Amino acid sequence: MTAANRRPKILAARLLPPNVEARLARDFAATSNPDDVIWSADELVARAAGHDGMVVASSEKMTAEVIGRLPESVRIIATFSVGYEHIDVAAAARRGIVVTNTPDVLTDATADIAMLCMLGAARRAWEGERLLREGRWDRWATTMLLGVHVTGKRLGIFGMGRIGRAVAQRARGFSMEIHYHNRSRLPADEELGATYHADPEALLPVSDFLSINSPSTPQTRKFLDARRIALLPDGAVVVNTARGDIVDDTALIAALRSGKVAAAGLDVFDGEPRLDPGYLELENAMLLPHIGSATHETRDAMGYCCLDNLDAFFAGRPCPNALG
Ligand code: 8YV
Repeated sequence: MTAANRRPKILAARLLPPNVEARLARDFAATSNPDDVIWSADELVARAAGHDGMVVASSEKMTAEVIGRLPESVRIIATFSVGYEHIDVAAAARRGIVVTNTPDVLTDATADIAMLCMLGAARRAWEGERLLREGRWDRWATTMLLGVHVTGKRLGIFGMGRIGRAVAQRARGFSMEIHYHNRSRLPADEELGATYHADPEALLPVSDFLSINSPSTPQTRKFLDARRIALLPDGAVVVNTARGDIVDDTALIAALRSGKVAAAGLDVFDGEPRLDPGYLELENAMLLPHIGSATHETRDAMGYCCLDNLDAFFAGRPCPNALG
């Protein structure tokens, strides 16, 4: 509890799932955002007045400048996400603000969406769906909607953290040969026969399928550019369920147009919810609106994870998911 044993005041910058809102209101003096308005930085700072902590999502860009303007009262920021490139954790630390995220709980849901993107792109799922819905399916044909075969192909995983490993686990069920790049090599009992490429560029020529599962960092931003796309096998399939800014959109769109990349399954976009309009014209791109973690179970778990961190913080215990 804070001074005078009052309930800590928490500002939730986005509307949370109903179960999470209920627990937030039960345990804290909560200010929520029932209309789920995305506040400007100025509005966010103004609304934070008098609050002890905040729950934000990746829509809230907590730059050093914004953090510097937060009221003194704010001592913790819990982000409803595993990724935290939208928060300047070092700037928060300088102000004595703890930042927490939500690892683990969205691993399976996100890995499932990576498989959906992989299979959907390779097997032209949305083109087939559109054919039906537009009443254009008039016959079955031996060469109709031929796609890329998945079984037995080489899958390159760029970023072998929790989600990358969960993608590998699923892909083994499709008899895929797993290759990966990660900042550090996994221990053998976690590698499970996957081939490690210390040089990320060495991963590309063996990636019939490339799944991007790394965080967005200064090192990974625009990793998949025109030069690196040229290193992929002809007709590769690219899947991105991590962060849009890891891909150079202009380069990927050109490669999808030329057929260098046979298909892409994308759940994330640089500058989302806006996306490069070039994607919209492509039949061979399956596009999803960042739904990697969008299951009832996962979104509740993410919210509870934020609240567990707030509970710990205000009880004077270490936060289970403190960053930095
Ligand atoms: C979040 C995500 O739901 O957790 C992440 O990093 O990418 C998503 O699953 C989204 O970013 C909202 O904060």
